[in-house]
Amino acid sequence: MKLSDSQIERFREDGFLILPARFSAAEVEVLRAELPRLFAERRPENFREKESDAVRTAMGLHLRSEAYARATRPPRLVEPARQLLGEALYIQQVKVNAKAAFSGDVWQWHYDFATHHGEDGVPEPLALNLHILLDEVNEFNGPLVFIRGSHRRGPAPATLDTETTSYPLWVVDDATVAELIAEGGLVSAKGPPGTMLIFGDTLVHGSSLNMSPWPRTIFSVILNPVSNALTRDRRPDHQHHRDLTPVAPLADDCLLAPDAVPAGAGS
Ligand code: SIN
Ligand code: MN
Repeated sequence: MKLSDSQIERFREDGFLILPARFSAAEVEVLRAELPRLFAERRPENFREKESDAVRTAMGLHLRSEAYARATRPPRLVEPARQLLGEALYIQQVKVNAKAAFSGDVWQWHYDFATHHGEDGVPEPLALNLHILLDEVNEFNGPLVFIRGSHRRGPAPATLDTETTSYPLWVVDDATVAELIAEGGLVSAKGPPGTMLIFGDTLVHGSSLNMSPWPRTIFSVILNPVSNALTRDRRPDHQHHRDLTPVAPLADDCLLAPDAVPAGAGS
């Protein structure tokens, strides 16, 4: 499903898109059904919260689950990214960010390129973060909050925060965040399961605690142009994959039909 000209224009202007009803309840269920098994695993790809044993983020999922391998390749996910970037893309990161009921912790104000550049030596802020909401995300369970238009200033100054949460993150200072919010305002990325989000590498975003009784799980794939690949080996593979094979879309029903063939590969 391609983006319309007006959606592309809005993405360039705002730095993000919120696309309702991109994935069905049945497709979302395929991904949700895998999570208890994946979250129970004790392995470095599962980062747990600072104050509890709850999973904060589970990475490398396409290498740990066949369903998640397929989930990186529906045309509805891959085509908009190819359309926006116009070149071959590799899978940089595949994860589910969980914000457990009552205890899911914050993601500080940040933009992803600060980490991609600061840790991995990615040259340019081109990567796209593609999300599929796996739970209903509302104002109470810690939605992502975007600062509209914050990407247009270019990369803001950022520092590495290893203290606030269990996940080290390059974050933006309060004064800069206040200025950016005064310019562009805030938008919270709410919606039913199956909603898709797209945002760019210099868009400033964050999310607050989940004090509600409702979990908030979000599937995320980061795609980056092969021509803009990492230049540093500092982080493990699950935080930035080294396989630069261009991602090839499968058939549109690949999440529901395990033997789905590549799109356009005959009948
Ligand atoms: C979140 O899961 O709330 C933050 C995700 C992100 O920074 O991409
Ligand atoms: Mn982020």
